[in-house]
Amino acid sequence: MSASDSAAAIDALPSALLAELRAIRHDLHRHPELGFEEVRTQAKVERWLRERGFAPRACAGTGLVADLRPDLIGRAPTIALRADLDCLPMEESTDLPYRSIHQGRAHKCGHDGHTTILMGVADRLAGRRAELAGNVRLLFQPAEEGVRGGGAKVMIAEGALDNVDEVYGLHNWPDYPAGEIRVRAGATMAQVHAFALTITGIGGHGSQPQLCRDPIVAGAHLVSALQTLTSRELGHAGGAVVSVTAFQAGTTNNVIPAEARLQGTIRSFDPAIGERVVRRMRAIVAGVAATFEVAIDLDLHTGYPVLVNHPRCAAAVARVAGALIGDARVSDAGLPMAGAEDFAYFAQQVPGAYFFLGAGRPGESTPCCHHPDFDFDDALIPLGVAMFLGLVDDRLAALAAS
Ligand code: NI
Repeated sequence: MSASDSAAAIDALPSALLAELRAIRHDLHRHPELGFEEVRTQAKVERWLRERGFAPRACAGTGLVADLRPDLIGRAPTIALRADLDCLPMEESTDLPYRSIHQGRAHKCGHDGHTTILMGVADRLAGRRAELAGNVRLLFQPAEEGVRGGGAKVMIAEGALDNVDEVYGLHNWPDYPAGEIRVRAGATMAQVHAFALTITGIGGHGSQPQLCRDPIVAGAHLVSALQTLTSRELGHAGGAVVSVTAFQAGTTNNVIPAEARLQGTIRSFDPAIGERVVRRMRAIVAGVAATFEVAIDLDLHTGYPVLVNHPRCAAAVARVAGALIGDARVSDAGLPMAGAEDFAYFAQQVPGAYFFLGAGRPGESTPCCHHPDFDFDDALIPLGVAMFLGLVDDRLAALAAS
């Protein structure tokens, strides 16, 4: 494909459709909904799909699954494409004309843009039903974010990946330059463990430490000792992040409190390394408790697993991206990254790949995802649509021939 052909593929969206997609994106942005509450968003997407000949079914409550060619399921390959629907529980700080109308809810990760991109894909595919070599399944997933998250897992349990050969997903990412696409084979995003440590000692008068068992001193040692999980337990290649992000204890200057509470997160890119860090964390906690004669309760929550891209699928993303924007703008720089994504569950079930659309505008520091000033860049819509359409053509042809 020549440079002008590839520009044409990205520019192939009719301008009326592009204007409509922008308006949809702004409407979704104005009306953000939290995980498993995406009722309005679901209704809007469902209407759009029905108008284009799809027969979507609800999945995971507020999600949707829609097949382009249900008649071909089981007889021809099926490629799944996924978008996330939910917003974040945070405030919008922008003065955009389409700023969130809800307090404490905002699209600060760009899922409004991802949903819009997949709606654009649905429109383009609907006009090509007869000519494709297989089925395309659109997955509109609720609840990707945070403690409410895990919508992917629920969708899988409800059969969203049944008969699916490969699955693809994307995310905008302002830390990578606009016009670039980043993808990598293997570990791409991190496994998360969240931990909370409650240290119970014996409180008392600040002048009488000999009568107390001070949870603050034990906690301070614990914070230092936990740093050795990465500096002394892992070699030069590393492979984990351990951060203590909260330390709460005490109320005044002359009382030793009875309790201190720490919270933090572990990120790792290999299950064996994650297990090693957790095992050694338990040992350090037990050791500090014995040393300072305090009780320490470790509450460990295991979050999303490592997101692992299948080499064949990552290669397909790189190939399609290279044809669209040139190989020089496609790389695996900056990957893996220590964020987490429940697309990981999809990629555990069937071969898949998750890739990033660079969104950093040149010459400015573009607010990153989850920043209160963040806004999805509408300029990414044509490239996002072109990438998914390119993957459909590439993969259906390859799988049908194999
Ligand atoms: Ni996100």
